[in-house]
Amino acid sequence: MVQPTPADRFSFGLWTVGWAARDPFGDATRPAIDPVESVNRLAELGAWGVTFHDDDLIPFGTQGAERDAIISRFRAALESTGLVVPMMTTNLFTHPVFKDGAFTSNDRSVRRFALRKVVRNLDLAAELGASTYVFWGGREGAEVDSGKDIGAALDRYREAIDTLGAYVKEQGYGIRFAIEPKPNEPRGDILLPTLGHALAFIAELEHGDIVGINPEVGHEQMAGLNYTAGIAQALWAGKLFHIDLNGQRGIKYDQDLVFGHGDLLSAFATVDLLENGPVGGGPGYDGPRHFDYKPLRTEDLDGVWASAAANMRTYLLLRERAAAFRADPEVVEAMSVAGVGALAQPTLDAGESLADLVADRSAFEDFDADKAGERGYGFVRLNQLAVEHLLGAR
Ligand code: GCO
Ligand code: MN
Ligand code: MN
Repeated sequence: MVQPTPADRFSFGLWTVGWAARDPFGDATRPAIDPVESVNRLAELGAWGVTFHDDDLIPFGTQGAERDAIISRFRAALESTGLVVPMMTTNLFTHPVFKDGAFTSNDRSVRRFALRKVVRNLDLAAELGASTYVFWGGREGAEVDSGKDIGAALDRYREAIDTLGAYVKEQGYGIRFAIEPKPNEPRGDILLPTLGHALAFIAELEHGDIVGINPEVGHEQMAGLNYTAGIAQALWAGKLFHIDLNGQRGIKYDQDLVFGHGDLLSAFATVDLLENGPVGGGPGYDGPRHFDYKPLRTEDLDGVWASAAANMRTYLLLRERAAAFRADPEVVEAMSVAGVGALAQPTLDAGESLADLVADRSAFEDFDADKAGERGYGFVRLNQLAVEHLLGAR
């Protein structure tokens, strides 16, 4: 079925469809969209959830009764459509106060302001039932090496995440954090630039048990990395808490294209991993399928909703193709020839020590390395089968 339903758990950020298409070189090409309109339209298209930064819904600086009124109007739209809020996040990048970062600004008063801004929005996230809170540190970085002590900045980053982690635990919110890596843009260099850096950072946290990652397709590809392999490592580490699906064409500015409109073969592998689990076996991903894309600046409002639908339709088509790929007996056979499943077997026998291995002459002295080196793995044939399934040729 290529008609999305809430059971597919597709979610969109308010800032995605709501992007008015202002860029560094040009004015907005579309009007702002009322968040309630976005909720209604996304629900009609078959989405399940909506996500947002505090300031996407409640303009920066809005307080008290005005803030409450905005929230209750939004809640009414959620209730009437059945849309849920699975994830929320904080805008710690638009206002000039954050120009040198939020948690890692060189200015301590900015760091304190940033923490307070997050706490207020975490309380709202708990009220709205969000289970994931994303931290994308777009301004946490630098352009000038001598202007930022990276170690001190990481100390302050850790202090912020641990302080907020302790807070959600004390409050019993049941919220988990997901750090979203990005190599650059808007800063020249951003802290935690790849998912690998983020995983290493999480290992240093006191409350790292509730902290995982939210990798975005385009962000890893901006660093020239293989997104599917990256999220496979995150799954292996039990840290794939959320996901930002979109498209990117090579190492350039952050394109935030529709999912599948960048590297389609990579998108196929991503959906195959998320839906069917690692090729050698094991569980896939059970969180929201979240799209963080931007409708092209050339689109009018009809184009905005068509592009939102395109993300979901592409995902569902890839899901069908990936299921057929895994079920194809020729694929199963090609994987077997390639030894994909054999990698699951430990290299040492149960109870075998390294000394036992050293004593095993068949492993080394009598091992015919030249013969083993002649083996063909058939990976190209396997990849061609994937391409043919992707093209609908099988
Ligand atoms: C980007 C980022 C952002 C974040 C979002 C959540 O395109 O650089 O993806 O869109 O995901 O701001 O904090
Ligand atoms: Mn992006
Ligand atoms: Mn993102």
